[in-house]
Amino acid sequence: MRLPERQLAVLDAASANDERTIDEIAASTGLKPETVTGAAFDLRDAGLIGVAETADETIELTEEGREYVSEDLPEARLYWTALELGAADEPVSMSEVIGNADLAGPEVDIALSNFARKGFGAIDAGAVSVNADADPDSDPEAAALSALADGEAPDADEAVLDQLERRGLIDRVEHTTRSLTLTDEGVTALMEGVEAAETVDAVTPELLTSGEWEDVEFTEYNVEADAPVVEGGRKHVLRGTADRVKDVLVGMGFQEMEGPHADADFWINDCLFMPQDHPARTHWDRFALDVPPIQDLPDRLVERVESAHREGWGEDGDGYHSPWDRDFAEAVALRGHTTSLSMRYLSGYAGAELEPPQRYFSVEKVYRNDTLDPTHLLEFYQIEGWVMAEDLSVRDLMGTFEEFYRQFGIEDIRFKPHYNPYTEPSFELFGKHPETGEEIEIGNSGLFREEVLGPLGVECDVMAWGLALERLAMLTTGAEDIRDLHGTLADIDFLRNAEVTY
Ligand code: PHE
Repeated sequence: MRLPERQLAVLDAASANDERTIDEIAASTGLKPETVTGAAFDLRDAGLIGVAETADETIELTEEGREYVSEDLPEARLYWTALELGAADEPVSMSEVIGNADLAGPEVDIALSNFARKGFGAIDAGAVSVNADADPDSDPEAAALSALADGEAPDADEAVLDQLERRGLIDRVEHTTRSLTLTDEGVTALMEGVEAAETVDAVTPELLTSGEWEDVEFTEYNVEADAPVVEGGRKHVLRGTADRVKDVLVGMGFQEMEGPHADADFWINDCLFMPQDHPARTHWDRFALDVPPIQDLPDRLVERVESAHREGWGEDGDGYHSPWDRDFAEAVALRGHTTSLSMRYLSGYAGAELEPPQRYFSVEKVYRNDTLDPTHLLEFYQIEGWVMAEDLSVRDLMGTFEEFYRQFGIEDIRFKPHYNPYTEPSFELFGKHPETGEEIEIGNSGLFREEVLGPLGVECDVMAWGLALERLAMLTTGAEDIRDLHGTLADIDFLRNAEVTY
């Protein structure tokens, strides 16, 4: 029998009694693992060897996991420090414990939430008390981490490993191990003698110039062989979701709005009947920009908006009777919502005066001075939209959302009555997270008030909303932390591999 050289090397290295893995054979033949795999499949097809496959998992410590092996889990550090400060007898102030435990930045939150979860003690009214019977030294999570650091398989429950994975302290990598054994036919073939047939796996300039290519035998392609993984470019999950949202809304008859990210407070807030002393308009919540004010606001509209704020709108309207200052309206900030665009369009300022019926949307960035957490970013995308028509009702609003979210496979939207200064009635929308089962807020909506529409000169009804694109992406991909999706902590593996289900 004649076999290509590589197949012969693999056949020689395989044994009839011992299973040998691809890696072992690669080491003993000096061939690359993927070459061995390719040859093994050919030999299997020829009936000369058997290939057994086992799927297994290796667990690796992440960088953060490794850190906690050398310096203890944050919750254990919190425990020991609090214990030392006497928190077993009497609660000790949280800031004292945190300072002494040398916990900084995100470690503080990590320590506090896991401390309580593991029953190490309690945190109440800013003070920490510890449970003297708890023993962080026999914590299964810490034990699993140190076993991994020593290169041992952790002797831990699946639930403990799941928890460590959720905490980002370990990575589980699944792979298939293939082991080879000689079949009877393989043994017979070797006993009868197998010769190496030289085959060539690539055309080289030498083969071409010498003309030898005409005589050599080429190795056959094996499309089943394992090949090195090539990571190609891919559309970002969020961009993919945004594009799909645009397609869906265009399919529902909407047109796209455009407008500035940095805008006059007039468009961002005043037009929306947001009083100038509203808490959301303080420097705590908005990103004010140190640039010249936008002075060319449409004067007539400014007058009408000011009058709505001061005296109200309509016969029995009542305003806020609070200060209203044109300078504040002209000041520039990063928009905290894209409802500024809706105001520009509804007022006719962005283009032509609009006659009902109309439908508009945007999928654009907004900026808020929030605290970063698993569901909040400082910059995120809002799916803004509105419908202008005669006689709209809450049923129209709900039906529109149901139709929209159904396109993404989300059928169980829930509505909660809400308050916005600019809509009445108003609703928050909630959707159920496919992994955690938790209901997360995915949007805010309502019918614009007369105090908003009157000054803009709109005489029919307008229903409107702002939905969170990232939250929609969390529902469609199962991502549990918005920071996995974008920002500096984005999880590259997730972005490479996430399936977007719609
Ligand atoms: N501007 C609101 C928000 O950012 C969303 C919204 C838009 C609500 C239009 C009602 C009407 O949450």
